[in-house]
Amino acid sequence: APAPAASLVIFGGAGDLSRRLLMPAIVNLTRDGLIGDDLDILIVSHGEGSDKAIRKQLTEHLALKDKGIKAAWKKREPRIRYFQGAFDQRADFERLADTLKRADNIAFYLASAASFFAPIAENLAAVGLLKEEGGFRRLVIEKPFGHDLASAQALNRTLLAAMDERQIFRIDHFLGKETVQNILTTRFGNAFFEAVWNARYIDYVEISAAETVDVGTRGGFYDATGALRDMVPNHLFQLLAMIGMEAPNSFDAEAVRDEKAKLLQAVRIPTKAEARREAVRGQYGAGRIGDTKIGAYHQAAKVAPDSATETYVALKLMVDSWRWAGVPFYLRTGKAMAARATEIVLHFKPIPLTLFRDVDVGGLPPNRLTIRIQPDEGICLDFVAKKPGPVVDTAPVRMRFAYADAFNLPPSTGYESLIYDMLIGDPALFQRADMVERGWAIVQPILDHWAKGGAPEPYDPGSQGPEAADALLARDGHGWTPVA
Ligand code: BG6
Repeated sequence: APAPAASLVIFGGAGDLSRRLLMPAIVNLTRDGLIGDDLDILIVSHGEGSDKAIRKQLTEHLALKDKGIKAAWKKREPRIRYFQGAFDQRADFERLADTLKRADNIAFYLASAASFFAPIAENLAAVGLLKEEGGFRRLVIEKPFGHDLASAQALNRTLLAAMDERQIFRIDHFLGKETVQNILTTRFGNAFFEAVWNARYIDYVEISAAETVDVGTRGGFYDATGALRDMVPNHLFQLLAMIGMEAPNSFDAEAVRDEKAKLLQAVRIPTKAEARREAVRGQYGAGRIGDTKIGAYHQAAKVAPDSATETYVALKLMVDSWRWAGVPFYLRTGKAMAARATEIVLHFKPIPLTLFRDVDVGGLPPNRLTIRIQPDEGICLDFVAKKPGPVVDTAPVRMRFAYADAFNLPPSTGYESLIYDMLIGDPALFQRADMVERGWAIVQPILDHWAKGGAPEPYDPGSQGPEAADALLARDGHGWTPVA
């Protein structure tokens, strides 16, 4: 069913996120009939502009050659307006309130620089735009949600002084990915995965998000952020929560979010010694990935020449729950690596005894279940089979489910389900205040340790990351699955 009629007000709506992801998603939803003609869009930006100019700009990433997309855009376009205003000027918000005075349901989407999140929320509240009298008033907030635990708590306090938790939709775009949502379907829609999904059978878990892109033009943002803040307490912890959580009582938003929050509560906060020993930071130097030359990170535009910002991080976390006691979770993410690969690998324990006379146990690789988030979306199970022939021997084999074989997935941005769910008022795929704060609490000791000084380990572009990250696992007798 199409989402209810509403006005979507996008702060920073002339920016990159809006052009690259939000508008294509909105047009896809329009094409699929999930957003009706009655969605008005107001783009709020500080620069001079016009309805005509913004409409043109927003087509930049639309596949207008496609008939369906073109028809959907035709419907959408006349409903888009431009509003010039500063995000920290009360008078501009008063004008905004006036512009919106006939609007019924309103969703405010904060796609601006993060420093404006709090001022926008405060100004919206001050001019009465967050009061729900009749229609809904919702606030969608992009990342980064804070810079550390204290700033995330402060932002939550500001938001919760301006509105109720149920009005807030904190985006983690990983939750918009089909393959991420499918983690729960795989676990709780099937009998046999769950039967072995625990410390009795699982040896260790890897959660990786490797990228080949370098910092590119994002130096200003990235140098103040780094790989840990950019990817770990948000995206990687969402994957961790979905892999580790208990079955919820239902798929209602609060039931699901309660279980995720519970898992994050069980993640042990690193001690000072663990923060020092069990987190590795890396920074790429100059080199090449394939034919592409990559300049050293610290030479990139808007990056400090002596920058100690990490472009790679690997860490080990323990989950103190009955299900996961003693099972290490290794997380890593990095830029300028050998391949783009976001995946989760569950390593099963070795078999207790080998029965094949001529095969030593070392020759029998333990089972592995790989959940591939992107690209080559799918799930693989590695196991052992008998090699055909009169001599008893074994060989590793692979069973593979590929999205591309099973489904006809239309191209999507991942933002479709997030925008749709927000408009129908379902917060299941959004972060709750307690989850965000717990995520920061877990990484805070590492941030504190790094803030004391020291430098990231160097690694080559196109590599698997710094050697220290291999040593982190080798100490436990484990190894990373190469990103490929
Ligand atoms: C963003 C980070 O949140 O996620 C980027 O800021 C990163 O640095 C991106 O590249 C990865 O998302 P995806 O969907 O491309 O895996």
